[in-house]
Amino acid sequence: MIEGNDFEHGGQAAASVKAIMRELGFDAAVIRRLSIANFEAEMNVIMYAWHGVLEFTVLPDRIVVTLEDEGPGIEDVELAMREGYSTATAEMRARGFGAGMGLPNIKRNTDFFEIDSKRGRGTTLRYGVAIDARSA
Ligand SMILES: Nc1ncnc2c1ncn2[C@@H]1O[C@H](COP(=O)(O)OP(=O)(O)O)[C@@H](O)[C@H]1O
Ligand SMILES: [Mg+2]
Repeated sequence: MIEGNDFEHGGQAAASVKAIMRELGFDAAVIRRLSIANFEAEMNVIMYAWHGVLEFTVLPDRIVVTLEDEGPGIEDVELAMREGYSTATAEMRARGFGAGMGLPNIKRNTDFFEIDSKRGRGTTLRYGVAIDARSA
């Protein structure tokens, strides 16, 4: 469970998934790409949503992550996907966030990416990376 505003534990979900992926022996590049995506997605829940749950599933040909949050949702997903677009507060920017590169970086670092957001309800991200059956 990822809690909104919980900067203190920011990155913990991504770090846990990274440790599991290392344990399972995936390629370093796969681990790095998915960890970047997970960290950005996790921080977005902390900054913009109330709480969320990250799940990851290893399939024979891919690793799939779903991050479902309850929160205000994203009004204009196309706008939110633009590089540099951010609604981060001054406080978040002071913490080094709010470059508006999170969602674009999730997309760039994954092999598939879907975003589904309902205003006033929340946002679900589903993304992942392809894996070689021999890499794990
Ligand atoms: N889970 C979310 N819930 C609500 N709004 C979000 C969520 N994730 C992203 N957003 C919105 O999309 C914008 C762009 O996100 P992102 O590319 O990660 O940039 P940043 O986090 O630097 O603002 C955010 O500023 C915010 O307005
Ligand atoms: Mg972000």
